[in-house]
Amino acid sequence: MKVYVCETYEDLSKKAFNEVKKTLDENPSAILGLATGSSPEGLYKEMVSDHQKNGTSYKDVKSYNLDEYVGIDENDPQSYHTFMNEHLFNDIDIDKKNIHVPSGSTQADADAYEKELSQITIDLQVLGIGCNGHIGFNEPGTSFDELTHIVDLTENTRQANSRFFDNDINKVPKQAMSMGIGSIMRSKKIIVLASGANKANAVKAMVEGPVTENVPASILQRHDNVVVIVDKEAGSVLTK
Ligand code: GLP
Repeated sequence: MKVYVCETYEDLSKKAFNEVKKTLDENPSAILGLATGSSPEGLYKEMVSDHQKNGTSYKDVKSYNLDEYVGIDENDPQSYHTFMNEHLFNDIDIDKKNIHVPSGSTQADADAYEKELSQITIDLQVLGIGCNGHIGFNEPGTSFDELTHIVDLTENTRQANSRFFDNDINKVPKQAMSMGIGSIMRSKKIIVLASGANKANAVKAMVEGPVTENVPASILQRHDNVVVIVDKEAGSVLTK
């Protein structure tokens, strides 16, 4: 794992953007794995502004998102479909038919998404990390071999995400569909973004802790091409 501790969230976002740009320069038809949440928002802003200023094109790029809530409509303002449209897809020239975001509510729907994933290889996967070390919606205790599946969200995660639902945990869906850790680990390269002091312990456990299913992100120590990009608050308890 390479770890970069950046001074600010803006620096982190620029560094993450450089990784995306490098991937696109090498292969304009790259396949990107994308995440939602506040961590990659700055990266998506950089991608949009570079597209507008420098004309970097996404017309041949394919994207596969990590996860989506179960039980809310794709057009719901809080859905991850909406998040991606508003933060990225509406403002770049990606072909809508090349965009893939999990949808549906059954394991059969999850299996169908996994089947699509099994036919491609993600060149660059963008990840955030939950305060409990989750990646995608793979909560602590999830098997490292798990593929795309339906997840019961923990109280902890629903509480953390209630900020997007009028701070009302009752409005946060109880389930989600998520790429599994097995699916994520097939990516050629992975960048993990984390910002803020509330992520510091999870970042330390991911980078320095034992590899354990209790900290889903710790499996990334076993992947040979991972770049962790954090701001100084999220990197504050790292040993070196
Ligand atoms: C959410 C998402 C994850 C995300 C994580 C951190 O629950 N399912 O994909 O990486 O939590 O979110 P944030 O970046 O907003 O802190």
